[in-house]
Amino acid sequence: MALLSVQNLATYFYTRNGVVRAVNGVSYDLEPGETLGIVGESGSGKSVSCYSLLGLIPMPPGKIVSGTAMYNGLDLLKATPKQMRDVRGSKISMIFQDPMTCLNPYLKIGRQVMEPLIEEGVDKKIAYDRALKALDDVGILDPEERMKQYPHEFSGGMRQRVMIAMALVTEPDLLIADEPTTALDVTVQAQILKLIAELKQRKNTAVIFITHDLGVIAGIADNVNVMYAGGIVERGTTREIFKQPAHPYTQALLDSIPSTHAHGERLFNIKGLPPNLTQEITGCPFAPRCKHAVDACYVTETKLANIGEQHHTACFRFAGGEI
Ligand SMILES: Nc1ncnc2c1ncn2[C@@H]1O[C@H](COP(=O)(O)OP(=O)(O)O)[C@@H](O)[C@H]1O
Ligand SMILES: [Mg+2]
Repeated sequence: MALLSVQNLATYFYTRNGVVRAVNGVSYDLEPGETLGIVGESGSGKSVSCYSLLGLIPMPPGKIVSGTAMYNGLDLLKATPKQMRDVRGSKISMIFQDPMTCLNPYLKIGRQVMEPLIEEGVDKKIAYDRALKALDDVGILDPEERMKQYPHEFSGGMRQRVMIAMALVTEPDLLIADEPTTALDVTVQAQILKLIAELKQRKNTAVIFITHDLGVIAGIADNVNVMYAGGIVERGTTREIFKQPAHPYTQALLDSIPSTHAHGERLFNIKGLPPNLTQEITGCPFAPRCKHAVDACYVTETKLANIGEQHHTACFRFAGGEI
């Protein structure tokens, strides 16, 4: 049985400039122990689709307008604050892009890393030892001293490590990592990815890994959801996505990976811009940027079609063997 089953999730933001359809009908299953990579350009709905699962969407302006997200028999989208508190921190942990979203500037680091364990009812002494080990695991030197310090005494990279320690200390069933390595140098990145892989091995933890870096995905993900303009345009095993990308958008993403793996600007250099999400989109949202687009692409509603046992594409031309 799936650990998490997301069906038809849609999250909109009602802003002064119109309704932003940030996530528009996303469905997928995640198995225990699976690592799912979510890739797509900035603004494609990667973060919002995951924040929606954990009650982290600011409402207003946000609203979850449809969907279910079943996790251990609980619909996360309808969870009470108490149910959500129980799930978060112990069963599902999240690593954010910005560490300050989850660190309290007024509390000592040690207390914060111990907190999710204390919440679970773990004995204080044991919680202390586990927090110490978690900080050591993420490469924080002199963790005993560091536990007595406040977030402002840590550099950006160090705060990121603290947040990762906080997320891993409870050994969750599901870890959602939102571009966790973007701000870290390459060595630390590798170390963090190794830690996540170890936890997976030991605890069969499932991981949702959000990134704009397809190179990172290749190394760790079992399956990949490719997102564009709030929807999944392709889903498949990592192998299939790399060997036989079945959506022109995925192909463009792969083409835009620089051969010498440099970080930054050169990733995702696809001509044109993603659509304005406040405007109703008819047809395929990628059509205006797609080199294979024909008239029908602008009017045919897209939906994911099976092209292999576990491979789906929203491109009807690809699914129909036209490209
Ligand atoms: N609080 C908000 N108010 C209005 N629009 C938002 C808000 N948060 C996110 N969005 C919009 O939702 C869309 C998806 O954002 P996001 O999920 O953060 O993209 P990604 O993580 O793929 O870069 C973007 O167009 C973004 O501007
Ligand atoms: Mg994001």
